[in-house]
Amino acid sequence: MCGIVGILSKHEASPQILDALKRLEYRGYDSAGIATVNHGQLDRRRAVGKLINLSDTLVHDPLPGRVGIGHTRWATHGGPSVANAHPHQAGRVAVVHNGIIENFRALRESLTAEGAQFTSETDTETIVQLTSRFLAQGMTPVQAARATLKQLEGAFALAFLFDGEEDLIICARRGSPLCIGHGEGEMYLGSDAIALAGMTDRITYLEEGDWAILTRETVQVFDSEDQQTARPMMRIALDNAQIDKSGHKHFMAKEMAQQPAILKAAMAQYTGADASAVALPEGLDFTRVDRLLMVACGTAFYACQVAKYWFERYAGLPVELDIASEFRYRDPVLGPQNMAIFVSQSGETADTLAALRHVRGEVGQVVSVVNVPTSSIARESTFALPIHAGPEIGVASTKAFTAQLQVLALLALRAGRDRGRLTEAEYASRLDELRSVPGFVALALDREEEIRRLTEILSQARDVLFLGRGVMYPLAHEGALKLKEISYIHAEAYAAGELKHGPIALIDQDLPVIVMAPYDALFEKTISNMQEVMARQGRVLLISDAKGLAEAGDVPHALQMPTVPELIAPIVYAVPAQMIAYHTALHRGTDVDQPRNLAKSVTVE
Ligand code: F6R
Repeated sequence: MCGIVGILSKHEASPQILDALKRLEYRGYDSAGIATVNHGQLDRRRAVGKLINLSDTLVHDPLPGRVGIGHTRWATHGGPSVANAHPHQAGRVAVVHNGIIENFRALRESLTAEGAQFTSETDTETIVQLTSRFLAQGMTPVQAARATLKQLEGAFALAFLFDGEEDLIICARRGSPLCIGHGEGEMYLGSDAIALAGMTDRITYLEEGDWAILTRETVQVFDSEDQQTARPMMRIALDNAQIDKSGHKHFMAKEMAQQPAILKAAMAQYTGADASAVALPEGLDFTRVDRLLMVACGTAFYACQVAKYWFERYAGLPVELDIASEFRYRDPVLGPQNMAIFVSQSGETADTLAALRHVRGEVGQVVSVVNVPTSSIARESTFALPIHAGPEIGVASTKAFTAQLQVLALLALRAGRDRGRLTEAEYASRLDELRSVPGFVALALDREEEIRRLTEILSQARDVLFLGRGVMYPLAHEGALKLKEISYIHAEAYAAGELKHGPIALIDQDLPVIVMAPYDALFEKTISNMQEVMARQGRVLLISDAKGLAEAGDVPHALQMPTVPELIAPIVYAVPAQMIAYHTALHRGTDVDQPRNLAKSVTVE
């Protein structure tokens, strides 16, 4: 959510900043901007909308200078406009900011009373006005930035650039991620190491509360107590194939297609080549757990919803599920025998991170299932379990969802074995089933052309209903979420059996109803609900396997999935849920990778 870049370069900084911002555009695309210092003069260019608009601006009105900061915005305070675009500038300082300054109203009032002239509606502008005031009082840039940071409340990442200072960027991290890249006679800054790919692989992550003074040759990091401190430098290898579309039309298409390979590799990471047992970090112990709490947002929440069935069935563990933004506002009862599992692709989702901090010290074990192993959620949990999906850039989560499901299934099976709920033979045969996931996911991906045809009609719809029972109920939610976010068609998910308690009133010949129902123990019941829809002229698309489709009889539309073991059905059925959304969006011509109003990595609450 909002991307920040800073570069102290040997060459012109703007093209490098623009390039780095391109890799961060998934974080927001309401506006973008760059500021540089050239011959001692601070100057900036800003444009509304996607980065391409800023590129165009720079073609006509270049921005020279070898030091600069850049920003791609997801609007919070103030709509998308040039005035609200970052970098914000007041007097001799410019700032880019990710996050929210919670006390900005009070600061703005007192600064206005002292004569400051605000030109935007943003919370960010209070930062530059404050710093500018401190500079006017005679403080040095470092003193002014430090004094400013002391007055700010909220969660943020910031970078400051100063008039007259061509070898200085000051940055700070409180709540939002920030990393420093070390080059040869150059220094870089980014909200995400992805931004710096191609420039350096030597990265230092700032810790919570840190601030830093960067020059081309030096980095000085200070902790929240202003004590100079050392933070480790690590090598993060990101090759271009990981962060480009690799010949696909969209990142989402690439990421869906990657699933078989990713799931296979991730399985090997946890079970070794022979997949005979699930290896977990030393100390992670399911035998002393009386209750699991699972907390996440969006797609990651639906992965938890599926996993609840697995943990209860295979491990006999009671599971309590929560949407992260609700969790800590309901006084959850916590205890030392509880294990809390937080699931997040980015590992930076503010609500999930806040929920994690809420339970730390209150529950016995804090586990995270994350895609970014260097993320805040990973670092702040006792046990971080990576899903090994690689960078996910399409805003709609796809490969991270199936990889989350796979890791959660592995955890549930291991918990079942450790708790004596599964015999060694059952454990081994369930692991075998999981090993077959990549092949079945590849078969599901092969249905693409059929899905493309089916979605021609779907793309005309105003509303769509998804139905499922058991593990297919969260899958129905995931299908509806994907469709909403990238095609902008209103979609709802219902537990199939719940339909008759109200939503059945919506059914008419204009409402497509997608029923997700492999031939399992709940099949007959789901099909009865489907019949109730068809009796009212609902336009059904049944997604099932060969047996299911044969048993269901005549349905208006059908999509055949491979026949799969019950355990892995949710992972395999995620594929048509994703592809239905993708192809519907293509028919409608919407922006698949950067849907309106959204951003990846939601670092505000
Ligand atoms: C949907 C989607 C979001 C995320 C949610 C949580 O396609 O991507 O619903 O799943 O914002 O994000 P993470 O997993 O990064 O915590």
